[in-house]
Amino acid sequence: MAHISSTAHLPCAAVLCAFSLLFCAVSSFPVAPEGKQEAKCGYESCHMTKPGFLNVHLVPHTHDDVGWLKTVDQYFYGDRNDIQHAGVQYILDSVVDQLLKNPQRRFIYVETAFFYRWWKRQDEDMRNNVRTLVNQGRLEFVNGGWCMSDEAATHYSSVIDQMTLGLRFLNETFGECGRPRVAWHIDPFGHAREHASMFAQMGYDGFFFGRLDYQDREQRQMTLDQELLWRASDSLTPPMADLLTGILPNGYNPPEGFCWDQSCDDAPIRDDPDLEDYNVDDVVQRFIQTAKDQATVYKTNHIIMTMGSDFQYETALKTDDFFPYADDAHDFWTGYFTSRPALKRYERISNGLLQVCNQLEVLGGSSSRNGPFGKGDSHTMRKSLAVAQHHDAVSGTSKQHVANDYARRLSSGWSTCQVVVSNSLSALSGSTAPRVYCDNLNISVCSFTEASKQFTVTVFNPLGRPVLWPVRLPVNGTQYSVSDPDGKPVDSKVVPVSSSTRDVRKDRGFAVNELVFEVQAPPLGFSAYTVSQIQDQTGAKTETKTENKTGPNQGPTQIENKFLRATFDPDTGLLTGLINLETKQRIDLTQNFYWYNASDGNNSDSIQPSGAYIFRPNSSTPFIISKTAKTELVQTSVVQEVRQIFSPWASQVVRLYSSSRTLELEWTVGPVPIDDDLGKEVITRIDTSIKSGGVFYTDSNGRELLKRKKDFRPTWDLKQSEPIAGNYYPINSRAFIMDEENQLTVVTDRSQGGSSIQNGSLEIMLHRRLLYDDVRGVAEPLNETSDLFPEGLVVRGSLLLSLDPPKSAADKHRPLGQEMVLQPLLSFTEGAQETNTKLSKLFSTMEVLGFSELNLSANQWKKDMKRFDWTPKTEEKPEQKQFTDPSSWDVTLKPMEIRTFLLRVRI
Ligand SMILES: *[C@@H]1O[C@H](CO)[C@@H](O)[C@H](O)[C@H]1NC(C)=O
Ligand SMILES: *[C@@H]1O[C@H](CO)[C@@H](O)[C@H](O)[C@H]1NC(C)=O
Ligand SMILES: *[C@@H]1O[C@H](CO)[C@@H](O)[C@H](O)[C@H]1NC(C)=O
Ligand SMILES: *[C@@H]1O[C@H](CO)[C@@H](O)[C@H](O)[C@H]1NC(C)=O
Ligand SMILES: *[C@@H]1O[C@H](CO)[C@@H](O)[C@H](O)[C@H]1NC(C)=O
Ligand SMILES: *[C@@H]1O[C@H](CO)[C@@H](O)[C@H](O)[C@H]1NC(C)=O
Ligand SMILES: *[C@@H]1O[C@H](CO)[C@@H](O)[C@H](O)[C@H]1NC(C)=O
Ligand SMILES: *[C@@H]1O[C@H](CO)[C@@H](O)[C@H](O)[C@H]1NC(C)=O
Repeated sequence: MAHISSTAHLPCAAVLCAFSLLFCAVSSFPVAPEGKQEAKCGYESCHMTKPGFLNVHLVPHTHDDVGWLKTVDQYFYGDRNDIQHAGVQYILDSVVDQLLKNPQRRFIYVETAFFYRWWKRQDEDMRNNVRTLVNQGRLEFVNGGWCMSDEAATHYSSVIDQMTLGLRFLNETFGECGRPRVAWHIDPFGHAREHASMFAQMGYDGFFFGRLDYQDREQRQMTLDQELLWRASDSLTPPMADLLTGILPNGYNPPEGFCWDQSCDDAPIRDDPDLEDYNVDDVVQRFIQTAKDQATVYKTNHIIMTMGSDFQYETALKTDDFFPYADDAHDFWTGYFTSRPALKRYERISNGLLQVCNQLEVLGGSSSRNGPFGKGDSHTMRKSLAVAQHHDAVSGTSKQHVANDYARRLSSGWSTCQVVVSNSLSALSGSTAPRVYCDNLNISVCSFTEASKQFTVTVFNPLGRPVLWPVRLPVNGTQYSVSDPDGKPVDSKVVPVSSSTRDVRKDRGFAVNELVFEVQAPPLGFSAYTVSQIQDQTGAKTETKTENKTGPNQGPTQIENKFLRATFDPDTGLLTGLINLETKQRIDLTQNFYWYNASDGNNSDSIQPSGAYIFRPNSSTPFIISKTAKTELVQTSVVQEVRQIFSPWASQVVRLYSSSRTLELEWTVGPVPIDDDLGKEVITRIDTSIKSGGVFYTDSNGRELLKRKKDFRPTWDLKQSEPIAGNYYPINSRAFIMDEENQLTVVTDRSQGGSSIQNGSLEIMLHRRLLYDDVRGVAEPLNETSDLFPEGLVVRGSLLLSLDPPKSAADKHRPLGQEMVLQPLLSFTEGAQETNTKLSKLFSTMEVLGFSELNLSANQWKKDMKRFDWTPKTEEKPEQKQFTDPSSWDVTLKPMEIRTFLLRVRI
């Protein structure tokens, strides 16, 4: 979010003293006399500082949202200035112009999505000028990813991809001088530990951010802890994930005339895109007093020269994260963890498709991009997905028309990627049969399978290990035979499409049944299954036993497979327990849907309403949607399910596939009613007999886990002012609660917010519909509707529950989370599969000639990666092994390591 102010200025040095090494800055001190030394980029191009003085570094920068109130292209071109006066192309034009006029000037630029657009439009003369500015360190890139990513709702793999896209463009364009030295996240609404870990592995020397909890900031100002060494991984060997981190003094007490937070309205700085309107001298004058004041709340006023040696950071080692973020007592930015749940899911599965597309683009060779099905590319999806990582995109905090633009971009990524997949499969199999994709299997829509009497399902598995995966296809027949790649029969069953699925799909599909079976696929490989209808009569009743049971003691009592049993109360239709049949573990477990009544902002404590960013329930007690569910039981050898209807806008299927070790809860929520004029934040809550005592665990960006404790923050004394919202944390892929005997893990299919408010309970927010804007700039209530759902958006998703002994569970849930992210891609062709699917010999066709290791974001060779070492002197430093020996092509990955290699191959 926030402020495309064309430029704003903030002080560093005294203020960012420890970081002065990391930055080039405009200061009041002269540079070396001209001609005496060659101009250089990097730290050597910095102005000199003066020993014994308070060095005030001004860092002119611009924060350009890759979509927020306007779309990314509207921001670039300066279109729709009626919404917000901002045009990034003019900012870059005038910045470059000003830099060229005066060699003393410096500027930092952050978002490569905009810079890339601008660069493409420049002629060779201008490009040469800009290369000079970059080579002399006068224009310096910081962060340099495609966008400044959101940190709560993003998955690490998409973050690495978007950083790689931006950073490799900068390296290709400018070489070493284009490589950013610091990561710069001045706007995201809270900070994830995994982001810090990734930035460290990308070779950044330091990290700056702007927003942290107001109580945390006060505390840090008192103890001079606004510079810290963040130890961002429990698993990686230090200093691999150590990152020197500086908290910028922006935010809530800006000096007059310097406010670049969107909550104030300093017109001269905020609204004018033309640098010539800025009076830097005036700005500096007013800053002197502020800089002096600010120096008192930072650890050092040391000068740049003595920096690296004098400090010890032991006391400021931080190992947790900066969530949740509150800017006041009743203003917790924990709503956006869930805002726009459909977009969050679309972003997540688009990431899966991109990985498939990348893999197949390589495997299929050059004809993947230009083959029998036309021109395809993975680049469209890569860019769309990179844009979607922005902190107003996947976060759900943009205006509705901008959210539509993000989804539209992803959708064009889907079509070009699907061409790549079709071309690649054609090259690999030798068949040019038209290939069909069904993007709405989640609501049982696929006109192809609905109509076809015989077809082949090709399953591509993007994971590096084999998967067993359930497939559900909309069909009209009642009996089918399914055979595996070897022609062996596969157990399959036909079950009726549920009433809630019919409601949500509307007239997008008409199939009456679903064909259910389990498929397997090898690591990074394919398998093909043939489906043949063996009964002509369509629309006939299926032989699958389904029963509608309502009324006292009429409901189902249990479903089970060989691993799990879920029990139900036959009176209420609700879950009552979960049993792991292998380990003989058993817990009481009830689950239901509730909604928090959103604050409208009209009360005496605070005028803060719930909105796109902020979660503020009117009361800590959520309302139950219904104490009972109408149930329907489906029991077959392939799948067992209890379909529960709680209300016309909340239903669920509790489902067990025959080979699954997890219980699926497939929820469907919406349209959330607002006819009572109350905004609603809908949660699913699982209450168990586990004695978790207010402790729960959530993942950070889909990787390592962090311990959360109710009403507690590890590094400061929390005064809890919002008992619910102040305990919400982002869940990217999984969360769990445990005691000595049992661990209940919940794997999510998208980013969501969640908490554990009661002992043994875990709640996850699924959907939000709000009637007021929360006054953080977006100026729209989060009230999602669409052409298909004019009465309010309906969203469907899945949670996977797993019950394990605490020790073994730790290893289990990360692969599960990965399976949700990198789901197999299904595609369909008419008729039976050709004998022996030719696809299996895939990998032997590629000969690896050599390889070199890169940093995590692939913009620097690993051997050239030299970060500043901030490790406290007292700590032992492990030998850093470099991967150099090309004769040994075995790479051993330590736990949680991700390594990046460039392979040279012959196809
Ligand atoms: C499937 O059956 C439904 C219900 O009879 C019907 O409306 C629909 O047209 C059928 N679909 C096809 C492709 O025949
Ligand atoms: C059960 O009830 C639902 C909704 O009321 C209906 O659509 C479905 O056909 C019924 N199923 C059976 C087996 O009666
Ligand atoms: C819901 O909250 C609103 C204020 O946000 C309040 O006026 C209303 O009484 C509350 N309703 C219920 C049912 O608690
Ligand atoms: C709350 O106050 C605002 C501004 O005074 C007003 O527009 C809104 O209608 C009020 N909401 C309710 C539910 O009374
Ligand atoms: C909830 O709404 C009621 C009625 O408008 C109001 O009196 C109360 O202060 C609100 N509480 C919170 C926490 O917003
Ligand atoms: C929310 O959306 C509904 C459906 O479009 C509309 O009728 C209602 O006025 C909207 N409410 C607000 C506060 O935007
Ligand atoms: C079904 O999946 C599509 C993406 O393929 C998504 O856009 C849509 O929102 C999902 N439908 C529901 C009801 O969640
Ligand atoms: C960075 O760019 C330079 C020059 O453009 C090139 O020689 C170098 O190999 C690139 N580095 C990486 C890691 O791709």
